[in-house]
Order: sequence, then C-alpha cells, then structure tokens
Amino acid sequence: METKKTQVAIIGAGPSGLLLSLLLNKQGIDTVILERVTGNYVLGRIRAGVLEQGFAKLVRQAGAGHNMDTLGEVHHGVELAIDDKRVPIELTKLTGESVIVYGQVDITRDMMEEREKRGIEAIYEASNVQPHDVKSDNPYITYEKDGVKYKLECDYIAGCDGFHGVSRKTIPDELKTEYERVYPFGWLGLMSDTPPINDELIYAKTKRGFALASMRSKTRSRYYLQVPLTDKVEDWSDEKFWEELKKRMPKDAVKNLVTGKSIEKSIVPTRSFICEPLQYGNLFLVGDAGHIVPPTGAKGLNLAASDVATLYKILTRVYKQGDKKCIEQYSPIALRRVWNGVRFSWWMTDLLHNFGDDKDFYTQRMESSELEFFLNSEAGKKVIAEQYVGLPYEDLE
Ligand code: FAD
Ligand code: DHB
Repeated sequence: METKKTQVAIIGAGPSGLLLSLLLNKQGIDTVILERVTGNYVLGRIRAGVLEQGFAKLVRQAGAGHNMDTLGEVHHGVELAIDDKRVPIELTKLTGESVIVYGQVDITRDMMEEREKRGIEAIYEASNVQPHDVKSDNPYITYEKDGVKYKLECDYIAGCDGFHGVSRKTIPDELKTEYERVYPFGWLGLMSDTPPINDELIYAKTKRGFALASMRSKTRSRYYLQVPLTDKVEDWSDEKFWEELKKRMPKDAVKNLVTGKSIEKSIVPTRSFICEPLQYGNLFLVGDAGHIVPPTGAKGLNLAASDVATLYKILTRVYKQGDKKCIEQYSPIALRRVWNGVRFSWWMTDLLHNFGDDKDFYTQRMESSELEFFLNSEAGKKVIAEQYVGLPYEDLE
C-alpha cells in the first residue's frame, strides 16, 4: 500500500468538493480530492441552473468566476403561473437581490479547469474509497487506483460525495437521525438548442401537473415536466414532450415556444432528505452527502454552497488560528440554513405539483387558497422572493 498525505481530504469532485478545494487552496491549505468516476462523467450531469448571489460570491473568491460573470445571466425576477395566470415575482425590486442563471455543468467545468491550472490534486476513477478512524486525530482514507491500493492520511475529511456516497454511511446509525420524504413523481428534463420561451423562468402549476421553463443562454432552453415515477425516458418522444409542455405553460407564453430536437432528456426522482448531525469526529458531510431537496425551489446546489462556506471558514480558523474547537459549529450552522431550504423547497413542491388522489379535496382547496393569498399580496411575494434569492450566510461565533 502506498501512503500519501494531505491536510484536508475531500471525497467527491462535484460542485461541493471542487469549490471547497479551490477556497482552501487560496488560504494555503492542502487538499486532495478523490472522485469515483471520470471528469467527463461528472460533467454529464445536467442538473442545476439557478445560482444564488452567495454562491456566486464564493465562486469568485475561489478564483473561478470569470465565465460565470461573462456568460451567466443575471435574473431580476421569476414567474409563477397558475394555469394561464402569470404572476411576476420581482426579485430585485422586492429584495434588492438577484440570481444568476448559469448551468451546473458550466460552473463545474470552470472549477475543474481552475483546479487543474492551480495544480490542486484530484484523483479521478478512485475506487473503494473508505474513510477510517474519523473520530481520532489521525483519520485516513483508503482507496484504489489502477489496481494499486493507497492510504491517504489527513487531518480532516470533507464528505462531498453526494447522496449515494460513502461518507454518510461512516456515521454509525445510532448517532444519526435521517429525515426523508419521497414524492410520488419525478421530473422529466429536456435540453434543446432553442431560444427560451420567456425572459424569466416560469414555474407553472396546472391540473395536468407542474412544468418549469428554464434556460442556459439566449439560444439554449431547459424544460421540466412533472411525470409519474413509473414513466421511462423512452416513453417520452420529443414531440410528446413539446405537446405536453404546450398544455402546461400559460397560453400567452406558448406563442413564443420554439421547439426542436432534444440534446438531453432524463428523469430524476424527487425527495427531501436530511441527516443530522452533519459532523462525526473529523468528518464533515457537505452538500448532497448530507441533504437533498426536491428541485422546485432551485436550492440543492445553493445549500451545498452554504455548507462549503461554513466549512471553509471553520477550516481557515483551525489552520490560521489553531482553534480546533470551532469545528463543532459546523453542523448547527449548516443545518439551520439547510432546514430553511428544505422548508422552502417542500412548500414550492407541495403547492405547485399535482398530487392527484394523494391529497384529499379539502387539502387541495387549502393549498390553492394559500397560493392565491401569497400571489395576491406584496408581502406574500416578498416572502417568496427572499427565499428564492437565498437567505444570508451565518457567521461563526
Ligand atoms: P454531487 O453533485 O452529487 O457530487 C458528488 C460527487 O461525489 C460525484 O461526482 C460522485 O461521483 C462522487 N462520489 C460519490 N460517491 C463516491 C465515492 N464513494 N467515492 C468517491 N467519489 C464519490 N440545485 C440548485 O441549487 N439549483 C437548481 O436549479 C437545481 N436544479 C436541479 C435540477 C435537477 C433536475 C436536479 C437533479 C438537481 C438540481 N439541483 C439544483 C441540485 C444540485 O444538482 C445538487 O444539489 C448538487 O449536485 C450537489 O452537489 P454535490 O457536489 O454536493 O454533490
Ligand atoms: C433549473 C432547475 C431547477 O430545479 C429550478 O428550480 C430552476 C432551474 C434548471 O435546470 O435550469
């Protein structure tokens, strides 16, 4: 077995792992990233499109914000639509803040390139990655690469390995609580090189189910449809997708819909999942490794970023000021913001999707009334806007 050494070992080269490594590198803190798949495979995951300003600031601080700031689009509003009634939520007018529409693939590629340029080590296609002795002062990770077994010694381990990763499983069952809600539908996403249907995103609630019109640029659109969990991508030809989208988007927006060949189509299940605590000894759970939200509020990646912000501040204090005790602040600080994001995502998901017979008539009427109340009130729209642009990051004590 070959032995290597670093200060912070990071499992997972998704957005969380890359962002953390770049930020720590700026502080002179050494990291090694271990990733199970290839870089191209990571870049094949389309996923998120909406970045909060807090996330964007971190990316700039990490030195990877150039493309985001030149190619990303600043959005000052978003629309909610109930059948054909469109309600603008004027984010900047209501909160002074905006969001940036820039794809997860692009931000990941930018961070990968920056990592390579700065010579930060990442080992792709590392198999059997396993953390050990995380409660001790000498934790380490074992893994294999090209048939050779390695031991990576470190001070701390950042588990940035997503929902299916190994980090969360390292915390003994009796020391963690997992909260989960699985929704009875998935999201079918389609990407196409066609101009977007509208300048702003449209989140649409209809009797036929939820739909979302998003984008990546002036010439690339991203659309989503709520579909039953039993549906397969093969059940959805491009034609069938566009026909259904036309029925769910508000009529006066459909006039602007340009259809075309899909360049990607996939179905994702929707769920909320939270693990408490997010820390076990010298192991930290970051991003999807510790929590998942349904995509309706565009919060998953943004919550990953706020975890990174907290852990970055903590590790900087540990290495610069020798304050090792502050690591205990990670889980409470991160979880406070996570639960806010979970609540907002749950609210948006519940109110905008069609749950069919899963919700009785009374509950459906209560929810319609709640949505109508929020959308007819400036205060209600402000509450939505404040959460959509993202709550502030909490500082360490
Ligand atoms: P991941 O991206 O899952 O990365 C984890 C990495 O760890 C992966 O590369 C994986 O290969 C690696 N890994 C796993 N196991 C191991 C192992 N054992 N050893 C080594 N490496 C391992 N969020 C938003 O904020 N805004 C949005 O608009 C938005 N839209 C979304 C739309 C969809 C359809 C979906 C599915 C998600 C969306 N999200 C959105 C959520 C967002 O994509 C995730 O929250 C984000 O990917 C989390 O990043 P992460 O780095 O924590 O985890
Ligand atoms: C996108 C995804 C989301 O979940 C969301 O809420 C907004 C936009 C997107 O992929 O563009």
